[in-house]
Formats: sequence, structure tokens, C-alpha cells
Amino acid sequence: MNPFPALIDGYGRKIDYIRFSITDRCDFRCVYCMSEDMEFLSRDEVLSLEECSRLVKAFVALGVKKVRITGGEPLVRKNALWFFNEIGHLPGLNELVVTTNGSQLAHMADDLRRAGVRRVNISLDSLDERRFRQITRVGELDKVLRGIAAAKQAGFDNVKLNTLLMRGINDDEAIEMVAFAIAQGIDISFIEEMPLGSVNHARHSTYVSNEEVLGLLRARYDLIASNESTGGPARYWQVPNMKTKVGFISPHSHNFCESCNRVRISSKGELYLCLGQEYKVDLAPLLRQSLYDDESLKQAIVSSMQAKPKGHDFNFKKVEPAVIRFMSYTGG
Ligand code: 5AD
Ligand code: SF4
Repeated sequence: MNPFPALIDGYGRKIDYIRFSITDRCDFRCVYCMSEDMEFLSRDEVLSLEECSRLVKAFVALGVKKVRITGGEPLVRKNALWFFNEIGHLPGLNELVVTTNGSQLAHMADDLRRAGVRRVNISLDSLDERRFRQITRVGELDKVLRGIAAAKQAGFDNVKLNTLLMRGINDDEAIEMVAFAIAQGIDISFIEEMPLGSVNHARHSTYVSNEEVLGLLRARYDLIASNESTGGPARYWQVPNMKTKVGFISPHSHNFCESCNRVRISSKGELYLCLGQEYKVDLAPLLRQSLYDDESLKQAIVSSMQAKPKGHDFNFKKVEPAVIRFMSYTGG
């Protein structure tokens, strides 16, 4: 019998999903995510992939069923495939999923699928090459489109686009993005911009609510509300007679904290109990000091659940970010 209880927080929520940022580095510099001159963690601060794998195994042993590997850009981490192979077929882990900017998928999609990755979320904010460059500062649209094609070929259970619309930048592309997803036979989710990190971009003036996006889309498509859940906060709508579902992740207009089932881990091994709060538990010492074995690591994880706050308190009207951390640090 498992001597450890399932992970339950102080509000009775069952935690069975972890999002793990295995690197804070990225080959893009998206305006809403990073500043132009980001400073990244030094290599010895970041957990080794062996440590990352040990941590994932501890969480899975404690009943975690879904693991999302994110970044930064997780696929630019050296030997990332070794790590995916290490954790991809753990008993009890039902869903290993990846959030990526797609830049490496053209050459990695098949290997990721073989390693046990079930689903991939690919960020795509524009179908216009010039705009794509403007938003990512350095990214090449063509590379990502080839990555999407490779992901479709690789046979994942699901491939989904994540799109963040910004007023005056790409908010006129909502319908076009959905049309693209339909043509590709894949899903798409719209994400409201969250006030994380100091990104040197006028966030309060670019915020577009998902309610507005839904309104735009419904003028073009007869979307049907769906009850489906993928274990995340997205609410889905079905495009009639098509494979494509359109999701909305709306941290502002729809507070999903009540049913929160997840915690996040930074690439330094810090356990963040809520994306919108600063509180964290540093697990790195437990991985690095020989006096801690796997059992004490698990015990520390179990007890830290009690520190999970009730919810975030984002306010997009405020100019100052609610949390100084960048998204690339704790993972999108
Ligand atoms: N608000 C909302 N989503 C963000 N992402 C990055 N920064 C932010 C932010 N400030 C999302 C990207 C990408 C994923 C990795 O994280 O849209 O899809
Ligand atoms: Fe990189 Fe994703 Fe952040 Fe863009 S949003 S800079 S792709 S981590």
C-alpha cells in the first residue's frame, strides 16, 4: 500500500497535475512573456535532468496523473529527450504533455511521441510572418508551421494551438487562427494575457478578453458549448461538423481557482503552489543533500500542499504586474 496520502490541499482540492518548467531559457522572446534583455538562471542553479526526473517520479508516486513539461522552451534543453524517455512510461502517469513554441518539433515530434508524450500544445499567435517576428522578437513562423505539420504526423492523441491576442497587434486574427486550426484538424485555445513579470510592453492597453474573442468567433461560426474538460481550466466550444474544438482560458473573466488541481515547479526546483502568488517551497535542497531520501522528499511534498492558497488575485487594470516572476520561470 502507498504509505502516502493522495495530495490534498487545505481547501480539500486534490492535486493530481504538475506543470514543470525544465528550463527558463527559450529561443524566442515573446513580448508578453519576456523582456528583450532577459537574464537567465546560471546552469548550476537549474536542476539537472536526473534531478528533474527524480522529482517527477516522486510526484507520480504520490498520485499525480498528469505532467506537463514546459519552459521557457522545454525542447531547447540539451538532452531533453533523455528526460522524456525516463518519465514517459511511468506506471500511474496517464498523461505526459508538453507546451512548446514549436520551433524544435520538426525534428523532435516523432521521438517525443515514442517517449510517451500524449499531447502537445503549440503556441502560435499570428499567421503573418512579419507579425510573428514582431511578437516573438526573433522567431520564424515557417519553422513553427513545419513543427505543427510534424506534430500532426507523429500521431499524438491531440495537438492544440495556444493563442494570445493583443489589442492592436494581432486581435484581428481570431477568425483566421480558428480557420487555420479547422483546416489542420486540430484544436485551438485562446489565452487571456496574465500580468506576470515586467515585460516592457503596455499590457493594460493590449488586454483582450476572451468574452470579446468568443463574440467575434460566434459571428462567424455556430459554436456549440461543450462540457469536455482536459483537466485544465479551459472551457471548450465545438465547431459543428469539424474535429476542431475552440477553448478559452480566462484567468480574468472566469476564476477557475476553485477547482484548481495543479502545482508548478520551476527549473530551480521551487514548488509554486499558485501561479498568481509568490509563495513557494524550495525542493532543490531535498534533491541535492544526501540526508534526504525519496521518502523524505515525498513527505515534504505532501506537507507543502497545506500551503496552497485559495486563489490568485490578478488585476489587469493595475500597471504593475501582480507577480514579478516571468512566465518562462514557472512555466506557461
Ligand atoms: N499571460 C498569458 N499567457 C502567457 N504565456 C506566456 N506569457 C504569458 C502571459 N503573460 C503563454 C504563451 C504560451 C505559453 C507558454 O505561455 O501564450 O502559449
Ligand atoms: Fe518562449 Fe513561450 Fe515565452 Fe514565447 S511565450 S518567449 S515561446 S516561453
